[in-house]
Amino acid sequence: MPPTEKTAGLARVLAPADSKEPAIPIWLAREPGWLRSAPLSAAQKSWAEAQGTRASGGLRHVLVPTPDGRLAGVVVWLDEERSGRPELAIGHLPRLLPTGLYHLADEALDRELATVAWGLGAYRFRRYKSGEGEGSARLRLPTGVAAARAQAILEGVWLGRDLINTPAGDLGPQELEDAARALAERHAAQLTSIVGDDLLARNFPMIHAVGRASIRPPRLIDLSWGSPGAKRITLVGKGICFDTGGLDIKPASAMLLMKKDMAGAATVLALGHMIMATGLNLRLRILVAAAENSIAGNAFRPGDVLPSRLGRTVEIGNTDAEGRLVLADALALGDEERPDLMASFATLTGAARVALGPDLPPLYSDDDALAADIAEAGLSVGDPVWRLPFWDGYESTLDSAVADLSNVSEGAFAGSVTAALFLRRFVRQTRRFAHFDIFGWRPAPRALGPKGAETQVARAMFELLRRDCVGQQK
Ligand code: BES
Ligand code: ZN
Ligand code: ZN
Repeated sequence: MPPTEKTAGLARVLAPADSKEPAIPIWLAREPGWLRSAPLSAAQKSWAEAQGTRASGGLRHVLVPTPDGRLAGVVVWLDEERSGRPELAIGHLPRLLPTGLYHLADEALDRELATVAWGLGAYRFRRYKSGEGEGSARLRLPTGVAAARAQAILEGVWLGRDLINTPAGDLGPQELEDAARALAERHAAQLTSIVGDDLLARNFPMIHAVGRASIRPPRLIDLSWGSPGAKRITLVGKGICFDTGGLDIKPASAMLLMKKDMAGAATVLALGHMIMATGLNLRLRILVAAAENSIAGNAFRPGDVLPSRLGRTVEIGNTDAEGRLVLADALALGDEERPDLMASFATLTGAARVALGPDLPPLYSDDDALAADIAEAGLSVGDPVWRLPFWDGYESTLDSAVADLSNVSEGAFAGSVTAALFLRRFVRQTRRFAHFDIFGWRPAPRALGPKGAETQVARAMFELLRRDCVGQQK
């Protein structure tokens, strides 16, 4: 079963806007005085008050009964101290509420964001679970464009999460290509793929070197969509389907989660779906460098010197720094047509987590306005990023004694910055370049999803592109 099939499951947690089924109202109480003017009977008000009005850890919900003991509505109290948009707390509700159909009764809510939060919180990865699972709470979609956009966002994220959650045994470079191809077919996009030894013939030597030790051949997946005259956006994703570390093998604890090392690829497909499904006026190109970093007699080695698409030679200081190698060839290709914006998404370094933790991916860009716009767009939809510098002063740490550069820096400092600097060396013409060092994973359940895969920054970038913040290049 292809992992994309599970995205049809959105109907399990959302109902059409024109559904005739009666829906239970959800009220969001913003301040303690809300109850006085609430659309509830005196008995319901005192029941709600008796349950307590203080939220802790995000949200508290109170089920309000009808006089004959059925469910009349749900009052949600928000944590006063919490920061960010109140709509995001709605993500808790699908797992808290009894099975049934609900609707958002609060007029002041941003319905699109609240619906997205609901759908993100409701996601479950059930591919390998027997049985149907328990019934679930469904939310009636709002009317109009907000519903279509919310659905496109959710389909994108669910697709991306399914891909990341799928174990490497069932998702190699071929299956990643299959998912990209299914997406391309759905949106009438063009897709080509350069596979195995063809990568050498077509000058992608580093993607080939990283992936050649796997029996599942590496590939460069190239998807294009949209009108040729529109602004050109190129999204580049790291698609390492499993990262053993290569000959510089990872310890077991570090290898355990490495099925998610293709989260960058899943994220660009998720974002691509949002863009194509909502028909943004863009010329979209998605490049996925897909490979498995395996160990075999023909694996690339520490000390090897690799040629690259750009012509620069790269000395391998560590075979576990493989993501930047495959991305460098893909970025060099993207850069050749000088798009208006190019962005790379990659689970590139453990150091990014040391710096900012799992929930806040570093963003790198030399364009101050673009970086500020992305950060603001991300915050506004609960998909935050934090800017770190392309620090020129650390460029020399990538020096190599024998080649043009090394794939690792000498010291153990600023690992996420130096990885970003490595990538920037392969982007020579594109004016607006942004790179995201994502984690792709939620270590514990939160409002916006269960423990497991996350397509970090896909929603942030969609919000940016939707607002049309990307200027055209001269
Ligand atoms: N895929 C890893 C980075 C990673 C590890 C991301 C854990 C998220 C969670 C990447 O290929 C890698 O192994 N990077 C090395 C680079 C080092 C050898 C310079 C790292 O971060 O340790
Ligand atoms: Zn690695
Ligand atoms: Zn990796």
